Amino acid sequence: MIVVIDFGSQYNQLIARRIRENRVFCQIEPPTVDIETIQSLNPDGIILSGGPSSIYEKKSPKIDTAIFDLGIPILGICYGMQFMIDALGGTVEKTTKREYGFAGLNIKKSKSLFEKIDQSTTCWMSHGDSITKLPKGFSVTASTDNTPVAAAENIKKNLYGLQFHPEVEHTPKGKQMLRNFLFNACDCKRNWNMKAFAKESIQQIKKTVGDKKVILGLSGGVDSSVTAVLIHQAIGKHLTCIFVDNGLLRLNEAAKLKIILKQHLNINIRFVNAAKFFLDALNGVTDPEKKRKIIGKIFMDIFDAEAKKIQGADFLAQGTLYPDIIESQSAFGGPTSIIKSHHNVGGLPKKMKLKLIEPLKYLFKDEVRALGKTLGMPEELIWRQPFPGPGLGIRIIGEITRKRLTVLRKVDDILIQEIKANGYYKKLWQSFAVLLPIKSVGVMGDKRTYENIVTLRAVTSKDAMTADWARLPHKLLAKISNRIINEVNGVNRVAYDISSKPPSTIEWE
Ligand code: XMP
Repeated sequence: MIVVIDFGSQYNQLIARRIRENRVFCQIEPPTVDIETIQSLNPDGIILSGGPSSIYEKKSPKIDTAIFDLGIPILGICYGMQFMIDALGGTVEKTTKREYGFAGLNIKKSKSLFEKIDQSTTCWMSHGDSITKLPKGFSVTASTDNTPVAAAENIKKNLYGLQFHPEVEHTPKGKQMLRNFLFNACDCKRNWNMKAFAKESIQQIKKTVGDKKVILGLSGGVDSSVTAVLIHQAIGKHLTCIFVDNGLLRLNEAAKLKIILKQHLNINIRFVNAAKFFLDALNGVTDPEKKRKIIGKIFMDIFDAEAKKIQGADFLAQGTLYPDIIESQSAFGGPTSIIKSHHNVGGLPKKMKLKLIEPLKYLFKDEVRALGKTLGMPEELIWRQPFPGPGLGIRIIGEITRKRLTVLRKVDDILIQEIKANGYYKKLWQSFAVLLPIKSVGVMGDKRTYENIVTLRAVTSKDAMTADWARLPHKLLAKISNRIINEVNGVNRVAYDISSKPPSTIEWE
């Protein structure tokens, strides 16, 4: 296994993910961890992560430097490298040449960490301080124009440093560098899998919860369903899920979910039909942020009231994933979190004075699906495309009425039927329809019509942070369009959205 020492970088979980992708177990520990604990974990290697501090700041995080004498291979990344170099007698200085973003990397030694990598590649830099002198025994293994010491190693002591971030996609050969560390330097074995993760998580949940009770807001989406099943396997009937029907769900959604969730999984679920509250409050509201806020607030109130009926609950579980955390920390792309207020149960733990458990918070969507599979969940649940909390409310542009909801539900149902029938459902991150607040003129059976326009949106994505519009075959688009116009009263025009994220977002509001 690998221990990752968390110096506070926003990319730490990405490091962990990269390690897991190689089927090697990894554990993240704070810098305050003591040497005995590290030794007791018996790691094959240690990674010192990056972090926002400068090593010269008084309060910058530090780890016991005895770590460098354990004889365990160590890779320092960015701040982690600077910390190591400084601790071992090298020099780190503030330079005028800050480097942030892409940089050309010239590799001087195509061995150890850089095996199977071309001499010239790119990397992602993000640092103000730079290393100006290496400790004894170290040599430079790569450099960039602005950073002479972009990588260094002391091969005898198995100590490695990368000034850039190998864990991010922006360093194209970064995965290979990490693989080289795992399998060349640390001699790790590929023997970790989701089964092990499930087992550990279940044990952890049992330990944390004890004989207390847990409440979970279930949406029917992959994340909350997998969270429910995982916690259910740990504590059984001590888990109660609450499903709030906000009146903004897709066609027959609540009924379908009732069957899958309750019957297949035998989990305690309270279904609350609150459609009227939501729809009444949304009456006449057209501003997207207002809609989101109203939906979020009512959800919290209803959930809170329902949860109060459950005696003795101490914990609130949430299906938060790692990208949810990164998005709210604004990695790379800017402050995504304030672009749209996300309606998740964010404010709930505070309001309800419950302790939070988020067993999926280190996982990415594809890992959550793999976990669901390991837990024996039905494919139908695991492979559901994401559906936003505010539901069809943010897919009806303009005013939300029951009539418009009925139109959009029918359109959406046809789209999903065809996407599934043609084998695209699993390939797409999301596919859905948006009802526009404008009408257009058409002609049907020699008669002029003046009806609604819908837009179809289908995107491919890894984690919703970026997305591309799906190149669906014209034949399929034609079929969907024909069916919608023929079968749904009130629609006479279908458009296809060909914008990517960024600069657009996946949802329209
Ligand atoms: P955007 O539209 O920001 O969406 O590109 C990114 C992903 O997040 C989903 N989404 C939400 N999910 N609550 C959720 O649980 C929300 O309020 C919400 N808004 C957007 C969206 O469907 C896409 O997968």
